[in-house]
Order: sequence, then structure tokens, then C-alpha cells
Amino acid sequence: MQVIYDQADPWELYLKTLNQCIEQYSCKSLCEIGGGAFPAISLEQINRQKLDYTILDISQVELDRAPQGYRKLLADICQPDLNITEQYDFIFSKMLAEHVKDPELFHSNVYKLLKPGGIAFHFFPTLHSLPFMINWLLPEFIANFLFKLFVCNDPIEHKRFSAHYKWCKGPTKKQISNFEGLNYEILVYQGFFGHKYYQRIHLLRDIHKLVVKLLARFPNPYLTSFAFVILRKKS
Ligand SMILES: C[S@@+](CC[C@H](N)C(=O)[O-])C[C@H]1O[C@@H](n2cnc3c(N)ncnc32)[C@H](O)[C@@H]1O
Repeated sequence: MQVIYDQADPWELYLKTLNQCIEQYSCKSLCEIGGGAFPAISLEQINRQKLDYTILDISQVELDRAPQGYRKLLADICQPDLNITEQYDFIFSKMLAEHVKDPELFHSNVYKLLKPGGIAFHFFPTLHSLPFMINWLLPEFIANFLFKLFVCNDPIEHKRFSAHYKWCKGPTKKQISNFEGLNYEILVYQGFFGHKYYQRIHLLRDIHKLVVKLLARFPNPYLTSFAFVILRKKS
């Protein structure tokens, strides 16, 4: 297992990492969990690379917002008796893990949907970062107000979903044992320090920059803001 700490912007690294996984592990059948309105991979790339690509989402409204041409599957990844017979080389999610109420069921359902040796890649925010801690603690109506103020004021472009942040931490011992307990091999656990939520408050932004520099020198898995985890189903 490779544990990495980074100050880079995970939003910029996400697609690169996704494509590296597809290439490195020769993945042809892909399933994006919670792909919703904004699937990560374009139809152009899917056709060019002859990928077999499915977006799975709990919300028909979100699936309908995704462009026509994608294979769409309406399902709750946390359903105990998830009835999907297909298996995939590669299953991935972006900003989904923090929304699921039962993380064990989520990751064990993903495990079942993977072919032996298949790869899972999840990108999620981590709980102890202050903006996410506040989002977790606040009543929904206040969290919605702050989301509009600091993140996005356009409910069509970016809808807010309730977040629980279960199993959403950096590479802590507990997180590692959670994934290993489900029989996954952890290939990479990458924790990212810092975020861009303080851009509009200059003093806070500057203090935050200093804290991030300090964390990069003295990494702590509890103080990341985002994480990538790349897992393999043991064959
Ligand atoms: C914050 S959005 C992220 C959408 C997209 N991945 C992106 O980054 O733009 C979360 C998505 O996960 C879906 N979702 C939430 N819980 C889910 C579940 N239990 N099973 C499947 N999809 C779920 C929501 O409907 C929504 O489309």
C-alpha cells in the first residue's frame, strides 16, 4: 500500500488519476457510482476507447440531467440486496462517499460488483477539515445557506446533497482496517491538505495557506481535506 500526502488540487488530479487507472489496469467495463448529472468521462472518450460505461445513481432526476447516450442505471448502492448481475473492471465515484448512510454496505456492494482483480477508485472530502466538519454539524437549512454563499448559488448547476462523511477520512489506521476488513487490497491512499473554500475571506485564506504548509511538513491523516483511495478486489 502506498500512502501519499499531497498539497495539490485533487479536483485537477482526479481525471488524470482516473485515466491512469483505466490505462494501467486495462479497464474496459466501467461503472461510475453517483455519476448523476455530470458523468466523469465524455461520450467522445467512451466511443474512442471503446469503453463499456454505466452511470449508476439513486436519483432519476440526476440521471435525466446527464446527456443522452450514456447507459444509466437507477439504483441505491447501499441497498442490502442489490440486484445487479453485471460485474465491472473498474468502479469509481467522485463526491459520493460522503453522502452514503451505510459505508460498509456501499463498499461491500462495490466489491460484489467488481470482477476478481477489479479496481475501485473513490474521491471524497474528509471529515475533520473545518468546512466539512461545519457542513456535518449544522442543521440542513443553515448548511444550505452557507453552501450558496461559499460554494455555489446556482441550484441547477450544483445541487447540495445531505452529507454524513462516514468512512470519509484520510489514511487513518481505522480507515485502512475498514477497507481491509472487506477484503480489499489498498493500492493507494492519498490524502490532500487544503481547500479553496476561504478564497473570498483573505485573512482566513492566508492563515489556511500557512496551516497547509505546516501539515505538508508534519502530515496527519486526521487533518486532510480530501482523499483518493484506490482499491483492488483480491482475485
Ligand atoms: C454530490 S453529487 C456528485 C455527482 C458527480 N459525481 C459529480 O461529482 O459531479 C452525489 C451524487 O450521488 C448520488 N447518490 C447519493 N446517494 C447515492 C446512493 N446511495 N446510491 C447511488 N447514488 C447516490 C446523488 O443522486 C448524486 O447524483
